[in-house]
Amino acid sequence: MSQNTNALEITNLRAGYDDSNVLLGMSLHVGSTECVGLFGPNGHGKTTLLNTISRVIRPRTGSIRFMGEVIDRLAPQNIVARGLIHVPQGNRLFPDMQIMETLELAAYTRRAQHELKTNLDYVLNLFPRLAERRRQQCKTLSGGERQMLSIGVGLMCAPRMLMLDEPTLGLSPKLKDELAEAIAEISSRGIPLLLVEQDIAFILSLAGRMYLVDHGEVSREINRGAEVDHREIMDMYFGSEGA
Ligand SMILES: Nc1ncnc2c1ncn2[C@@H]1O[C@H](COP(=O)(O)OP(=O)(O)OP(=O)(O)O)[C@@H](O)[C@H]1O
Ligand SMILES: [Mg+2]
Repeated sequence: MSQNTNALEITNLRAGYDDSNVLLGMSLHVGSTECVGLFGPNGHGKTTLLNTISRVIRPRTGSIRFMGEVIDRLAPQNIVARGLIHVPQGNRLFPDMQIMETLELAAYTRRAQHELKTNLDYVLNLFPRLAERRRQQCKTLSGGERQMLSIGVGLMCAPRMLMLDEPTLGLSPKLKDELAEAIAEISSRGIPLLLVEQDIAFILSLAGRMYLVDHGEVSREINRGAEVDHREIMDMYFGSEGA
């Protein structure tokens, strides 16, 4: 990959479920070491976009390039093997497994096996709470600890890029701050990030740019530092929906 190659390039992507079209021609990119936000209200296709990139669902048209290569025909496990890692929305942990088992199991690809010890040390340093509770079962973890473990699972996959789907959903402001610090640390290592969130201020505290998603398309791109009228954006989405 040359230094100028984007980590991720989505062009005119269309996808959906059965008869419904959810992504109606989505285009965006994430630079090679960039943290980019994706904001949009419920049901406008953010998770569907990540599911399409990680090939949980099949793109209908358009293209997905990762590190310069077209990946939209690859099987999901091959996308993970290349290091494009999707940390899904909500709790997808195995309830009866312990923290350590969960982290070790996540490192199943050859590359991740190779990096297992380094990545495990990194995760346990990044989230000392997980280290303290290493033998605790996932079902007994708090919401914040689950989110930390979910990101930890992503990191154990030896990511070349991480896509985080609403990592702070339902967390207190204090825990949100803790997660923001962890995400900033991951980003400072040069790992490109696509951060899906519903909190514009949170996104812009971490990301240099963000895309606004509106009914399966990118409606606007906002750079950090630009004058952002949060109320205008909230009205644009929720005002019309609530009317
Ligand atoms: N497995 C599925 N089968 C059918 N329709 C689905 C499926 N998953 C999502 N959808 C529909 O696709 C649309 C987009 O959903 P999606 O989960 O991508 O939204 P989102 O932007 O991530 O929302 P949220 O902020 O609530 O997570 C919604 O109308 C949803 O009902
Ligand atoms: Mg979602």
